[in-house]
Formats: sequence, C-alpha cells, structure tokens
Amino acid sequence: MALVRWGFWLFPTGLALYLSCNRSALQTPRDEPTYVGDQVCASCHADIHTAYQKTWKAHSLLPVTPALERIEDFSAPPAYDPHRDFYYWARWERDSLYIYEARLRGRDTLYLRRERVDFTIGSGHQTRSYLLWRDGYLYEAPLTWYVAKKRWDLSPGYHDGHNSRFSREIQPSCLACHASGFRPVSNTYNRYTEVGGPLGCESCHGPASKHVQNPRDPAYHWHRWPADRQMDVCSRCHLEGITVQKRPRFHPGDTLAQWAAIFLPEKADLGAFGIASHVERLKRSKCFQLGQASCLTCHHPHPTTPVPTYEARCQSCHTTGCKNPAHPTTGCVSCHMPRDTTIDIPHVRFTDHYIRVVRPDARRPIANPPRLLCATEENPDSALVGYAYLKWHTEGGEASALPQALSILTRHPHPAAFAQALYLTGRSQEALPWTEKALQRDSALLLFELKGYLLEATGRLNEALTWWENLAKKAPQHPDAHFRATMVGLQLGRFTPATAYERFQKILALQPFNPQYQYNAGLAAYQMGRPDLARKHWTTARHLDPDYDPPKKALSQLP
Ligand code: HEC
Ligand code: HEC
Ligand code: HEC
Ligand code: HEC
Ligand code: HEC
Ligand code: HEC
Ligand code: HEC
Repeated sequence: MALVRWGFWLFPTGLALYLSCNRSALQTPRDEPTYVGDQVCASCHADIHTAYQKTWKAHSLLPVTPALERIEDFSAPPAYDPHRDFYYWARWERDSLYIYEARLRGRDTLYLRRERVDFTIGSGHQTRSYLLWRDGYLYEAPLTWYVAKKRWDLSPGYHDGHNSRFSREIQPSCLACHASGFRPVSNTYNRYTEVGGPLGCESCHGPASKHVQNPRDPAYHWHRWPADRQMDVCSRCHLEGITVQKRPRFHPGDTLAQWAAIFLPEKADLGAFGIASHVERLKRSKCFQLGQASCLTCHHPHPTTPVPTYEARCQSCHTTGCKNPAHPTTGCVSCHMPRDTTIDIPHVRFTDHYIRVVRPDARRPIANPPRLLCATEENPDSALVGYAYLKWHTEGGEASALPQALSILTRHPHPAAFAQALYLTGRSQEALPWTEKALQRDSALLLFELKGYLLEATGRLNEALTWWENLAKKAPQHPDAHFRATMVGLQLGRFTPATAYERFQKILALQPFNPQYQYNAGLAAYQMGRPDLARKHWTTARHLDPDYDPPKKALSQLP
C-alpha cells in the first residue's frame, strides 16, 4: 500500500519556551531554605491566613472536586470555533467535570469527544479556565468561562485559527505565576508528579523553612527591604513580557534584573495594555516616577484591618484633587485609571495602571522595524537582547523578529539562542557546532532535542539514532525521544516491524492520547501483518484528531 510511509518530519514545538538553566544551578544548595506550605504559616499567623483567603490569589488554581464552587452557567450556549468547526461545552457528570468537543451537521453529530478536567486556572473573578492532567502530563482545555459576560468561549489565545484543542502544554513557567507546590518531572516539558494548589504565602515571601525554625531570623524580614525590592516581587508575575531568564529561580529578595531581563514590544498606542501589565503601566506614570507610588501604596496583599479606599490613597498625595475646580473630588480612579478591555484576553476588563490624564487617541511614532524595549534594566547584555528577539519570533511576534535576532546574535553570540535561530532559518549545518557549544554548559531538554533534529536534518542518521537512544535513557518520560529513535531506526532499516511495534507500545504507554504515535503504531502493526491491530490504532488516532489525514487514508484502504 503506497500511502504507508513512516511518519513525517516533526518540528519541535517546544522551542518557544526554552529556559536557560545552567547545569550547576539546578541543584538546590544544601543551606537554602525550602518551602513549607500555607498550613504551617497558619499555625502562627492565623489572622493573616484568614484574610488571605479572600484574595483572588488564594483561588488561582484549584482541583476539580464536587466541592468546587460552581460559578459557571452550564446551560449557557456552547462556544463555537469557526476555524476548526468545533463546538465546546462543559457538563458535570457524577463527581467529575467534562468538556465536550463536537462537530455537528444539522441534527447529526459527526464527531464527539469528551475529556475530564482536573484543575481550574483563574480564580473566577475575571475568567475560569481548565487543565487536564493526563498520565502525568498537564494540558490546557480550549474552553473558558468569561465571568462578566456570563458566557462560554474559546480560551485566551485559542481564537483566530489558534485552537490547539486539548494539546497545549502547561509548562512550569506558567505554573510559576499561577500555582504553588507543583513538582515537575525533570527532562520533560509538562509532566508533574504534583500539580499543587493556588498561590500561597511563600509565592511572595519565599521559602520559609528557616523562618519557621527561627522567626527572628532577619533574612525573612520583608519590611526591611527597600520599596523597589518589594515591587520586584510583584513584578516577577505582574510584569508579563518576553522573559529571558538569567537564573533558574526567582527568590524574593533578588532584584528582578538579577533573575531575568523582561522585554516588551514598543507600542504606538498609549492606551493598549495586556492582562499582566500592571507594573509596566504604573512605571510610565508620574505618580511612580516622581511620587514613588508602588503596588503596596494601593494594594495590601492580606489586610487584617479595613483598608482606605483607592481615592483616599490618591488624595494622600494629591491632597486637592485636580487643579481644575470643575472636576469632582470623587471618582478619581474612573477618570484617571479607566477599566478597559485588554489586548490579550477577550471579554474581560482590567484596570489601566498608567495613571494619567487620559487622551484616548494619544499615539507616538515608533521605530521601523518594531523594537523590543527592556523593562528591567537600562543596558541589557546584547546577547540577551538577541535571545529576546528570537523568543518574540517563536511566540508569534513581528515578522522582522527572526532576522533581527540573527543579526544581533551574529555579533553577540549566545550559543543556545544562536543555534535555535540558525535552525529556524534552515541553516542546520551551521547550527550544529553552536548547539554543541551550548550543551557544554547547559543541559536543557530542548538543546538535547535540537541536536537530534540537526543530526537528522544534516543526514547523519546513524549518529542521530545513537543520540536519540541516549536521550531516551536520560529522559525516560519524554516520549518524543523514544519516538524519534524509533523513526530514525526504521529509516535505517534497523528495526523489524515487530520490534518497532513493541517500541511504539512503550511510547503509547506514556502518551496514549497522541494521534501521531497511534498512527505510527498502526503502521508497524500493519507491516507486521496485523490489520486488526492497525485498525484499532488508526481508529483511535482519528478519534483523537478527526482532521489528521494519514489515519483516515490508511483506514479507507483497509479491506
Ligand atoms: C512558629 C511560628 C511561625 C511560623 C510557623 C511562621 N511564622 Fe512568620 N513570624 C513569626 C513571628 C514570631 C514573627 C515576628 C518576628 C519578629 O517580629 O521579629 C513572624 C514574622 C513574619 C513576617 C514579617 C517579617 C518582617 O518583619 O517583615 C513574615 C513576612 C512572616 N512571618 C511570614 C511567614 C510565612 C509566609 C510563614 C509560613 C511559610 C510563617 N511566617 C510561618 C512566627 C512564625
Ligand atoms: C509572568 C507570569 C505569568 C505567566 C508566565 C502566565 N500568567 Fe496567567 N496571569 C498572570 C497574572 C499576574 C494574571 C492576573 C492579572 C490580573 O488579575 O490582573 C494572569 C491571569 C491569567 C488568567 C485569568 C485569571 C483571572 O483572574 O480570571 C488565566 C486563565 C491565565 N492567566 C492563564 C495562564 C496560563 C494558562 C499560562 C501559561 C500558558 C499563564 N497564564 C502564564 C501571570 C502570568
Ligand atoms: C502578594 C504577595 C503576598 C502574599 C501572597 C502574602 N504576603 Fe504577607 N506580606 C506581603 C507584603 C507586601 C507585606 C508587607 C505589607 C506592608 O508592609 O504593609 C506582607 C507582610 C506580612 C507579614 C508582616 C505583618 C504584616 O501584616 O504586615 C506577615 C506576618 C505576613 N505577611 C505573612 C503572610 C502569610 C502567613 C501569608 C499567607 C497566608 C502571606 N503573608 C501572603 C505580601 C504577601
Ligand atoms: C507568584 C506570582 C505572583 C506574585 C509574586 C504576585 N502576584 Fe498578584 N496575582 C497573581 C495572579 C496569578 C493573580 C490572579 C489570580 C486569579 O485571579 O486567578 C494575582 C492577582 C492580584 C491582584 C487582584 C486582586 C486580588 O485580590 O488578588 C492584586 C491586587 C495583586 N495580585 C497584587 C499583587 C501585589 C501588590 C504583589 C506584590 C506584593 C503581587 N500581586 C505578587 C500572581 C502574583
Ligand atoms: C494608585 C493606586 C494603585 C497602584 C499604585 C496600583 N494599583 Fe492595582 N489597582 C488599583 C485600582 C483602583 C484597581 C481597580 C480595583 C477595583 O476595580 O476594585 C486595581 C486593580 C488591580 C488588579 C486587579 C485586576 C485589574 O486590573 O482590575 C491587579 C492585579 C492590580 N491592581 C495589580 C497591581 C500591581 C501589581 C501594582 C504595582 C505594579 C498595582 N496594582 C499598583 C490601584 C492601584
Ligand atoms: C505616592 C504619591 C502618589 C499617589 C498615591 C498618587 N499619585 Fe498621582 N502623582 C504623584 C506625583 C508626584 C505626580 C507628579 C506631580 C504632579 O503632576 O502633580 C503625580 C501625577 C498625577 C497625574 C498627572 C499625570 C500627568 O502625566 O501629568 C494624575 C492625573 C494623577 N497623578 C492622578 C492620580 C490618581 C488618580 C491617583 C490615585 C489612583 C494618584 N495619582 C495617586 C503622586 C502620587
Ligand atoms: C471627571 C473626570 C475626573 C475626575 C473625577 C478627576 N479628574 Fe483629575 N483630571 C481630569 C482631567 C480631564 C484632567 C486634565 C486637566 C484639565 O482638564 O483640567 C485632570 C488632571 C488631573 C491632575 C493633573 C494636574 C492638574 O491638577 O491638572 C491630577 C494630579 C489629577 N487630575 C488628580 C485627580 C484626583 C486625585 C482626583 C480625585 C480626587 C481626580 N483627579 C478626579 C479628570 C478628572
């Protein structure tokens, strides 16, 4: 059967989320404090613990159990994606919450899939989204409840043809801002032994084991930190941009610039802002620049006594309000910090923290090609700037970002970034030595994978096979390594169909829900002379993705 080919070229999609971690930095030094959990804090700081439960953070990530508060309207109309032609809705059935995906023609259901969800993400003040924890791997669901609009719609980032269905990986970088207590499995992108719970005390105050042993140890004395150091803690999460990490972990007490360089694309429209842009917006304001207003001027993270109104806080500095006597002395916030829709999440309204006299059409000229500006330091290292342009490109930024990255990295090489940029521009031959250089001091999974793909792309299949086989041993829970080894081995004629099938069985034991693995297992079964098994795998592959053609074609050729 002519259509039976061994798989196809696979691009590593994880490229965008590469975090630079030095090998040596990965181990926690023995004398560093560790996390103890909120219950321990509650035993001595009960009032603060109670106050904290009222904040959004205390609900940022919750397990889906029958006790979960039901804020959604499950009878509201389903969400529809016109690009992929799928409807989505959610239902409680017994003790579990399920999301359905369906393709309908009139009264006929052409396709129906049901997935249990295991966690909510988003406290439900603005939105509630859902996560699936499958065989240890964590994914986002495509359906979100938008609280103010009281409606279901695709999750943020899934619109306009970007619906990744149930396969968007939730990596540790995402949980670092939204959860606490999660335990990632090393050498995987999104596998966890524990997903953890909502943000907690130590998300801001840092690991507390030493403080618990000795509460008077001054190291934990946040009050003694300068205001900008405190704001750096907030910025770690509330300044969302293109982040190039310098260290693997942020410890409260670090300056933001020690941990990472964060870049934002320059924008012409002064009114445009994203969901986690509070820091960037505030820093543009004269209240910050001249008045040193910080997050804590207006927000207390766990107030145990009533807090003053926001207006009272404005008036603590602007004792007379506006100079213009015609202006009311109340409602300062409504005029100077308008709520508006954000550029990155539909149907929600956030508060613009660029405190100013709002002139809606204020624009300023911007450079061409568009630039990235560093929000965390004046003169960031050029190699980091090059890396930021690369990330901008992989995260779907301006078309000019990749050439800009290459031109900077050619002059200021950052081996890991340069290798990726060369690979993405098809210059595999040149990319290989840079990958090797990067691997000398950096053991990120992505670099190991990159080398495997580069060996394949440059036709060094024997070496590629050995490389993937070794990676599969090093990263036993990362199925792609086993998968590539099997595919390259087949190309080289090293495996019989039976051996290949056995290997695919192991890969499927890790991720049975991956349609490509199912399809290729079917091919091996077919070549083994087991069309019955092939049919089973291809049917599963089609069920997982009705728009994935190879299993559809293969099935149509089975007798
Ligand atoms: C064994 C009791 C105990 C436990 C458990 C405990 N604390 Fe404390 N904490 C104290 C005491 C006592 C102080 C006051 C110390 C002082 O005034 O020098 C304090 C002070 C603090 C301060 C203020 C430091 C400052 O001056 O800025 C913070 C912040 C804090 N604790 C957070 C936590 C967090 C977070 C946890 C849980 C991870 C926790 N504590 C667990 C007893 C405890
Ligand atoms: C740099 C930190 C950071 C990262 C990384 C990040 N977020 Fe967020 N996210 C935030 C902050 C801060 C908010 C809250 C903004 C607010 O409430 O004003 C937010 C808001 C949200 C909300 C809406 C919450 C609500 O109140 O309704 C969702 C859902 C969400 N993020 C999901 C994700 C997912 C999924 C990822 C990973 C793919 C992610 N975020 C990555 C910081 C981050
Ligand atoms: C959003 C970040 C954040 C979180 C989460 C957080 N804190 Fe705090 N905490 C602060 C800040 C900021 C201050 C200083 C407030 C001030 O100076 O007005 C503070 C102060 C404190 C203090 C000193 C006494 C006080 O009231 O000023 C204690 C004790 C404390 N926190 C304990 C906790 C405990 C226990 C939790 C978890 C239940 C917690 N914090 C969660 C940011 C946070
Ligand atoms: C570890 C990440 C993280 C840190 C650190 C952090 N935040 Fe947040 N914050 C979030 C996320 C995520 C949300 C949205 C939670 C949701 O709605 O699901 C949030 C919500 C908020 C809100 C909305 C209102 C509420 O009740 O929660 C305020 C205000 C806020 N943060 C202020 C601060 C301030 C001030 C600091 C620094 C002292 C800070 N945050 C530090 C992640 C963080
Ligand atoms: C001058 C006062 C002021 C300062 C300073 C300030 N905020 Fe706010 N913040 C507000 C007001 C007002 C709201 C709207 C509250 C409401 O509608 O209930 C708000 C709301 C928020 C929210 C909830 C989501 C939203 O956008 O409506 C978050 C998160 C937040 N602030 C984070 C921060 C962070 C982080 C900082 C520091 C970078 C900060 N704020 C500094 C006044 C301030
Ligand atoms: C910590 C002190 C402080 C706080 C709190 C504060 N401001 Fe300001 N603000 C300043 C200073 C200082 C300036 C610059 C001097 C001036 O223009 O009066 C300023 C400037 C302004 C301006 C003029 C901005 C411009 O670009 O010309 C407006 C409008 C403003 N503040 C509104 C507010 C509002 C509304 C609040 C409360 C939500 C607030 N401020 C809270 C200190 C503060
Ligand atoms: C109805 C909308 C509105 C309200 C409410 C309002 N302002 Fe203003 N404010 C303006 C406008 C518009 C300007 C621009 C100057 C003008 O037109 O006179 C301004 C100017 C300012 C300025 C710049 C310097 C100056 O005085 O001209 C500050 C500071 C300021 N407002 C603070 C406040 C504070 C604090 C409050 C609350 C007590 C407040 N405003 C209430 C609309 C408002």
